Amino acid sequence: MPGKTNFDLILKNGTVVLPQGTMAADIAVRDGRIADIGRFSGAAAASVADCAGLHILPGIIDTQVHFREPGAEHKEDLATGTLAAAAGGVTCIFEMPNTNPLTTTPEAMADKMKRAAGRAWVDYAFYFGGTHENARHLAEWENLPGVCGVKIFMGASTGALLSATDEEVEAVLKNGRRVVAVHAEDEMIMNENREKILGTHPHVRQHHVWRSVESSVSAVSRLIRLARRHGRRVHVLHVTAAEELEVLAAHRDIASVEVLANHLTLSAPECYERLGTRAQQNPPVREKHHQEALWRAVNNGLIDVLATDHAPHLLSEKDKPYPQSPSGMPGVQTFVPLMLNHVNQGRLTLERFVDMACGGPLRIHQIAGKGRIARGYDADFTVVDMKAMRTIANAEQKSRCGWTPYDGMKVQGWPVMTIIRGQTVMREGEIAGAPQGRPVFFRETLAGAAA
Ligand code: DOR
Repeated sequence: MPGKTNFDLILKNGTVVLPQGTMAADIAVRDGRIADIGRFSGAAAASVADCAGLHILPGIIDTQVHFREPGAEHKEDLATGTLAAAAGGVTCIFEMPNTNPLTTTPEAMADKMKRAAGRAWVDYAFYFGGTHENARHLAEWENLPGVCGVKIFMGASTGALLSATDEEVEAVLKNGRRVVAVHAEDEMIMNENREKILGTHPHVRQHHVWRSVESSVSAVSRLIRLARRHGRRVHVLHVTAAEELEVLAAHRDIASVEVLANHLTLSAPECYERLGTRAQQNPPVREKHHQEALWRAVNNGLIDVLATDHAPHLLSEKDKPYPQSPSGMPGVQTFVPLMLNHVNQGRLTLERFVDMACGGPLRIHQIAGKGRIARGYDADFTVVDMKAMRTIANAEQKSRCGWTPYDGMKVQGWPVMTIIRGQTVMREGEIAGAPQGRPVFFRETLAGAAA
């Protein structure tokens, strides 16, 4: 009888996004895990959170963030980046290897894990950077504790990671079996374009012209050919172009697909006229017809994962004349508000948001015990108020970079509680307690820190 059981926490009266549908239910938590789902009138619990009028989502996972530690802590570090995540209703992040030094050795990986321990506000895992130099070790190193997969850049972006040629990409694909996440822009095509298109008076509105659709399509096509040759699954990060989606639709067995909240929200040329280099990111924000194709891909199921590519740079850096201005925008704290606003505007359902930001990461990365609200899974929840009207503001950003491209944007839908393994770390915008974050475990290795 659930009524006789002692729980640590009961979330009462909420509307819960469950695998079987969205419905009224209570959730009971014990020892950091979901103990039961149902109705628990009269059950004893150390604490009860009344969620009447609120929706309870599985903890939102952002599988693409850049937190800059080590090497560029003046922009962000693991404490500020994960604090921004917690403040925005994100319970778990996967962080990228283009730090300095690059996360391409076991030492660099262990160093990141050590830095995160006791300082991270949300649960975390790190990508291992794949290169042709470390490729022969990847089958072993990809299984180190805390590793969520291997990342390669086919086109140069922030930092020194690059696998531009087929040989370099193949070297990585040949070794190991975890998911290989790929920044698919074609370095050779972009190099040819750059001088020709930017000329003597470069402007950020040309950013998506030289980082062309052709470059994205070429990289994705080459990648799929190589993935097939080696029978290795690949995860194509941040697709931007309608034509890329056409290629990917024919290869769902071997390639999974990620889209970013920014690419669903901003479009060229408007964003470059309004935000200038603040809207500069790689791959670039493209024109409206590409954005519409991305939305169709969200709603016809082609997209597996939705993420942010949170890439903080100081405004003093972003305001340098283009193209000295670095590429990337912060996003982890605005992820949930932006997407709830899209839900309220009828662009997607709440369930599809959860599918892409929880279910997709669970399926692709084989996360152990996260990504759905189910008995025995971690008690990670993003509790949201779908009716709340708020304005996104620079002043509220916890990221060290201190700004957001969405400053001043009015949204409907807001995260009001972030709960990680049963611990409430954010309530009504207030951060509570101490950093609770722990490494994520993966089914393929069950490697992670000791429980
Ligand atoms: O715009 C970007 N910024 N794209 C990337 O791939 C890297 C990121 C960064 O680290 O700044």
